[in-house]
Amino acid sequence: MEVSGSDSDGREFRTAEELWKEEIGDASEIEKRKDWYRKGVGYWEGIEASVDGVLGGYGHVNDVDVQGSEAFLKPLLCERLGSQNRNLVALDCGSGIGRVTKNLLLRHFNEVDLVEPVSHFLEAARENLAPENYLSSDMHKPANFYCIPLQEFTPEAGRYDVIWIQWCIGHLADDDFITFFKRAKAGLKPQGFFVLKENIARNGFVYDKDDRSITRSDAYFKELFSHCGLHIYKMKEQRGFPEELFAVKMYALVTDVPRRPPGNRYRISKNNPAIIK
Ligand SMILES: C[S@@+](CC[C@H](N)C(=O)[O-])C[C@H]1O[C@@H](n2cnc3c(N)ncnc32)[C@H](O)[C@@H]1O
Repeated sequence: MEVSGSDSDGREFRTAEELWKEEIGDASEIEKRKDWYRKGVGYWEGIEASVDGVLGGYGHVNDVDVQGSEAFLKPLLCERLGSQNRNLVALDCGSGIGRVTKNLLLRHFNEVDLVEPVSHFLEAARENLAPENYLSSDMHKPANFYCIPLQEFTPEAGRYDVIWIQWCIGHLADDDFITFFKRAKAGLKPQGFFVLKENIARNGFVYDKDDRSITRSDAYFKELFSHCGLHIYKMKEQRGFPEELFAVKMYALVTDVPRRPPGNRYRISKNNPAIIK
């Protein structure tokens, strides 16, 4: 990736390849790559299984985050899946303690699967979503809990209407990002889509040496999407987060070329003033 960036110590990298070479080595250095992923998961293994824990001490942004996600998701569900009379299924990737599943996905989907590599987070999710702690119903319930990192996970073919990936894709190196999405595409039903909600770097990338995660710029993401064979159906910036945080964007990604341009730039509003003849 021809983008420059820096790490949390202020060290500059001319390209992302320079970073990846140093952190995970080349294809032959399998142990080095495994070790890098172990350290990323190891960071989260030391974090309390709570909303504040998974949000890095910013538990108070939960409500604004969920409202922003809801406003993004609802029209997409209508537009893409509104006419489908079917059992709706979502996958919550890097689900942590099930925060997104509980506050958002279970309100819109009949079944939600969770995938998360940190076992004490997944156990907390199981408990938070248990019928005695959550008003679940037979119509809206968590289904499967997979304890595995995304770079090793293959979603069941044709099972999902939406694959939701929030605040975890920075834990995947570029090549694993691409292979994950390529595998996951087969997990979508017809008209299904991905939602990626992520921190966005102003330029290039910022690498966090503590949790081994990379924050990519919008241009960096777009280049990766094209390598995955994905198209942006809609994109929106999350508003209302504290100023000191990274900007956050939501991307709805589809496997087919959208029939209208992404965003609503060319949409004609029904309320436009017009000449009355
Ligand atoms: C900032 S938390 C976000 C959790 C959840 N998505 C949310 O929004 O509440 C990051 C999550 O990514 C998970 N994670 C770390 N490495 C991962 C990997 N390789 N694959 C999938 N998830 C990973 C962590 O265990 C943690 O649950």
